[in-house]
Amino acid sequence: KLAPLLAPSLLAGDHAALGDSAEVVPHHGLSWLHVDIMDAHFVPNLTFGPEVVAALRRRSALADTFFDTHLMLDEPHRYVEAFAQAGSSLISIHIEPSYDHAGTLARIRELGCQNGIVLNPDTPAEAVESLLDQVDLVLVMTVQPGFGGQSFRTSMMPKIAQLDRWRQERGLNFRLEVDGGVDLTTGPLCREAGADTFVAGTAFFKATDRAAFAAAVAAW
Ligand code: DX5
Ligand code: ZN
Repeated sequence: KLAPLLAPSLLAGDHAALGDSAEVVPHHGLSWLHVDIMDAHFVPNLTFGPEVVAALRRRSALADTFFDTHLMLDEPHRYVEAFAQAGSSLISIHIEPSYDHAGTLARIRELGCQNGIVLNPDTPAEAVESLLDQVDLVLVMTVQPGFGGQSFRTSMMPKIAQLDRWRQERGLNFRLEVDGGVDLTTGPLCREAGADTFVAGTAFFKATDRAAFAAAVAAW
């Protein structure tokens, strides 16, 4: 079983001081930073582009940070190169839009990044079943993507358990990540179901004691 890993979501940081918000990650001894890229088409919101990711990557305090880049785009295959060049460590793409999923996942690895496939709440586990041997991470959305601060969907737990079951049965070792409404109450439910990688926006950035939150996740 993979150790629990916390990936703070920059979406909940200060957008006028993104560098400082991102540096909270190494400041707390954490390695992953979750970066949400939205296009106002696949989701009804806009966030950052590759220039922002590149500028964060140039900060010396973030040189060793793992940039977990979550693309919420209608045409992600058109942007994987830009986000790889910007310094992403992992690029995850959604299964819902139609494009060459397997080809794009392979392309992400060719570009020197890890890859991930993402499922919206209404998308069943079966939609990604045939891709599981080609990915480094599977991300199960526990809210409808687009905004931080939404409430967690407990109904996603069987989907996480199914993906974890396939992972064990097939001897695979992708990370199983959850994103949306993850906090000290809901995170342990995901851990119980088989998740090992926990995105937290609101729960981490708005915590009165971020160090205590990070320590709690490490003990899940
Ligand atoms: C939602 C994003 C999430 C978001 C989570 O579309 O994918 O990463 O930042 O925010 P919280 O943790 O506040 O639900
Ligand atoms: Zn995300």
